[in-house]
Amino acid sequence: MSPDSINLTRIGKPGKPCVMVIFGVAGDLAQRKLLPALYYLAHHRLLAPEFAVLGVGHQEMDAETFREHIREELPKFAPGQVDPDLVNELLGRIHYLSGEFGDPGTFERLRVRLAELDQTHHTKGNYFYYLATSPSFFAPIVERLHTAGLTQQEGSWRRVIVEKPFGSDLKSARALNRKLLDYLEESQIYRIDHYLGKETVQNILAFRFANGIFEPLWNRQYIDHVQISVAETVGVEQRGNYYEHSGALRDMVPNHLLQLVSLIAMEPPISFQADAVRDEQAKAVRAILPLTEEQVLRDTVRGQYGEGLVGGQRVSGYRQEPRVDPESTTETFAAMKLHLDNWRWADVPFYLRTGKRLQARNTHIVIQFRRAPFVLFRDTPVEDLSPNQLVLHIQPEEGMSLRFAAKRPGPVMRLGTVDMDFEYGATFGQVSSTGYERLLLDCMIGDATLFQRSDMVEAGWGVVQTILDVWKALPPKFPNYEAGSWGPRESGAMLERDGRSWRDFPC
Ligand code: BG6
Repeated sequence: MSPDSINLTRIGKPGKPCVMVIFGVAGDLAQRKLLPALYYLAHHRLLAPEFAVLGVGHQEMDAETFREHIREELPKFAPGQVDPDLVNELLGRIHYLSGEFGDPGTFERLRVRLAELDQTHHTKGNYFYYLATSPSFFAPIVERLHTAGLTQQEGSWRRVIVEKPFGSDLKSARALNRKLLDYLEESQIYRIDHYLGKETVQNILAFRFANGIFEPLWNRQYIDHVQISVAETVGVEQRGNYYEHSGALRDMVPNHLLQLVSLIAMEPPISFQADAVRDEQAKAVRAILPLTEEQVLRDTVRGQYGEGLVGGQRVSGYRQEPRVDPESTTETFAAMKLHLDNWRWADVPFYLRTGKRLQARNTHIVIQFRRAPFVLFRDTPVEDLSPNQLVLHIQPEEGMSLRFAAKRPGPVMRLGTVDMDFEYGATFGQVSSTGYERLLLDCMIGDATLFQRSDMVEAGWGVVQTILDVWKALPPKFPNYEAGSWGPRESGAMLERDGRSWRDFPC
């Protein structure tokens, strides 16, 4: 398979006949992401004609009321314009079952409903369960599915998609893995990280391995450091309950940011088969040196936003957000310097940062190359040489840019810094999507490449565990950054100490 075909290979080939069971169907995730993603798949004719959805929620409601609710909500979140005929077609496949996730009776009724759907939609006994619930339900739901005989695969397949957060530290992630593996094979578990559903994230592989020019430079000989920034302008919104227990570190680093690190740092896999890719990603994450307590104090920064101006609007501080403790010590910003201890990356720092209520929404990766020797420019007006930077823009703009020096026209040697830009939208057209459609389709066809394996999840928690421990032991002085800024001062200072600086976008 050629690298760019990994994104295109299944266009025109719909998913397999199956029922998608969504636990927590009335929640935010299902309404904002999952149902719009199904609409997108329907629009591209990527759902099998024998496909149905069964939403499970604790609200008492009949299927018609549920469908009407979706009809109202879908246009708000679906990518692009919504076609009413297509919505009707999709709604015809959507069903609802009310029940408590803690009640064994729910699972008995579920078994009966699924058997009925197999008859009406010809779904062949293939089911995948999407756990869009609070994490406390993950293990109990899987156990009850098992008890009801709904995880066993006899002439059909049964899969479970588990949302993040997968555990809240290394110990709980291990315990959850063990619990799930009591009832399921590893190959039935699809641990989702929606960052891997983003086109530009998948494109990191194509970019690295389909081009001859960068890979020879992709190592400690030529790369000075790597920066990964996931900046958000949104605050904690209505998710105070969840976020108070999570914070920026747990919410973003062991999953989304380390996925990006692994794609940048991994060795070329021997194929694009799921385990070949995931083996290399897991090796990259395992190569990250866990920080010592002293390093946590020196090489990590946490912050919490106070009130400020974002996009010209005055916004309140984190402690004033709904469902947040007015004395909260939860961090909304995290930055750190990590090192990978292997031949390719030894001594190349990876700087990571993520935060809410920052100045701009921007996810990007900067690969900074080593500076060229200055010797030739000593007797010219040039004062210093800027290092070359390759920037992978993940969102909101999708593209790449390469920064290099060029001579300014004129009789004397003066340099200017120029950027060579490539924008996805301009070249390939804008593809609006939620990021979930590719992952749902992959689960329907049994391709786990873009899902996390248990060892990857545990390795991710292993990287951040000391940070969690040290931060917990030392109460912070919050708030320490203004909403609408680029985070706490210490974040910039961490790089300045190393003679480097964050590249912010838009710059
Ligand atoms: C989620 C986090 O996993 O990712 C959120 O829980 C965060 O806090 C979101 O806002 C960011 O995703 P995206 O796709 O908007 O970058």
